[in-house]
Amino acid sequence: MEKSMRNLPKTSEPCIMVIFGATGDLTARKLMPALYNLNRENLLPQEFACVGFARREKSNEVFREEMLQGLKEFSRSKPEEDDTWSAFSERLFYHQSPFDQDEGYEALKKMLSDLDAKFGTKGNRIFYLSTQPSYFPVIVEKLKSHKLIYDKNSSGPWSRVIIEKPFGHNLESAIGLQKHITQFLTEDQVYRIDHYLGKETVQNLLVFRFANSIYESLWNNRYIDNIQITVSEELGIGTRGKFFEEAGILRDIVQNHMMQLLSLVAMEPPVSLKATAIRDEKVKVLNAIRPIDLAQFEKQVVRGQYAAGRIEGQTVAGYREEKDVAPTSEVETYVAMKLHIDNWRWFGVPFYLRAGKRLAKRCTEIVVNFKPIPNILFQQASHNNDNNVLAIRIQPNEGIALRINCKVPGTAMPIQPVKMDFRYDAFTGVQPPEAYERLICDAIWGDNTLFIRWDEVLASWTLLTPVLDRWQKDPKPPLDSYTAGSWGPESAANMLMDEGTAWRSI
Ligand SMILES: NC(=O)c1ccc[n+]([C@@H]2O[C@H](COP(=O)([O-])OP(=O)(O)OC[C@H]3O[C@@H](n4cnc5c(N)ncnc54)[C@H](OP(=O)(O)O)[C@@H]3O)[C@@H](O)[C@H]2O)c1
Repeated sequence: MEKSMRNLPKTSEPCIMVIFGATGDLTARKLMPALYNLNRENLLPQEFACVGFARREKSNEVFREEMLQGLKEFSRSKPEEDDTWSAFSERLFYHQSPFDQDEGYEALKKMLSDLDAKFGTKGNRIFYLSTQPSYFPVIVEKLKSHKLIYDKNSSGPWSRVIIEKPFGHNLESAIGLQKHITQFLTEDQVYRIDHYLGKETVQNLLVFRFANSIYESLWNNRYIDNIQITVSEELGIGTRGKFFEEAGILRDIVQNHMMQLLSLVAMEPPVSLKATAIRDEKVKVLNAIRPIDLAQFEKQVVRGQYAAGRIEGQTVAGYREEKDVAPTSEVETYVAMKLHIDNWRWFGVPFYLRAGKRLAKRCTEIVVNFKPIPNILFQQASHNNDNNVLAIRIQPNEGIALRINCKVPGTAMPIQPVKMDFRYDAFTGVQPPEAYERLICDAIWGDNTLFIRWDEVLASWTLLTPVLDRWQKDPKPPLDSYTAGSWGPESAANMLMDEGTAWRSI
């Protein structure tokens, strides 16, 4: 039976999770802390074990010690604060093998079957591919040929595969990868992860829109002037120069995270909270985005790259001076786009997206700008483009703010915008779970609502691959420089100014 997104205690079935790439950065920073915290909160099945799979030789003991160090550094709750680590660590194991070697998979099979006998995990498997994307095909193929992935519909144990982003680096490679993996897996065995969907504030978008009658009636082109989505970071590319040189911000942030935010903001109400219903509505929105008009390209897409500047009083290097970056690199660290959704709800409402590194501050935010009031009663307010703005802050300071006009006390009638602000931390008083906790929990539970379906990936690459292609073709569109610590290139501000508006935050 299809699972639905709901807030019930989840009773998961016994299983073993195998993490491919278990000595990597993501496992130490996110995956192991997520498993540890789920275990602490009794959200893992009683019958559970985890096997780390990677190339380097090491014993179980060394692997456990490394994971413990990772938890001390990265986990939201620290292992020294309670006594759950010791029992949890006894369920962690390490398996050494290159990803492409058959013997490694045979040995893994034997190991998993021994662990089934020891922990009662009943043959159920989650394979988490936390590796370079070039390894996804070989791992899936080997898992299938060694019968570690089961045929669907068998009434026996289940197997699921979580695939890290990126799923392809353009339309063609994504289709190639999809064709390859579907020889071995059915769509409902594939869990394509985008950790943004595990964030509380992103899930709250659905609740905010569909559990409050007051907003839904305003959520259309009659009342909304434009919607802006910003994903900005103060940080540069740090030690990820090699990775970023091949990716750029369009692939790293826009193609996945921002398209997901856009689809949740713009989707129609789903008929239920079942995964299929929600994903059907998301994909309809993505498919309704008007293709980029290549003849008007520079009015719709701006790209930039940071030059040296100052952030928090410190001088920081420009992108081309960063480690592992070519001194003549043309990779974009900033992108701004104007999109239109051609459906009845959104026709005529521009969606402005911007994402960048080394910007003035770190923030992920959706800003809904409502239309100005008629210029009849309060001219001051009708001329002010900034009134009636709703901001949904995804991170940091998670919450929702609404700007409304108020009368300033006194005998005259001056008007001033004020802000009504809801903050998550004040509401719950508890630290929300990390995105990976929610997503791993859902994968064990068998609920793929918060994972990305293939047609969503396809729609997103179909829209954005022409942008990547256009950047490669002569005459190349400008790559505008911006000072680190600013809000991006002037051309991005001009793009909105030409339409009589501006980027906002409240
Ligand atoms: N790091 C992040 O914050 C982050 C965020 C979002 C998504 N991701 C995605 O998550 C994935 C993993 O990222 P990561 O940063 O953890 O990568 P990483 O630090 O480079 O780790 C790669 C892992 O793969 C193993 N490996 C590489 N080649 C192998 C081979 N031929 N045979 C066996 N093992 C091999 C390495 O094992 P050895 O060390 O033993 O060689 C290591 O455990 C990538 O797809 C990335 O795009 C990462």
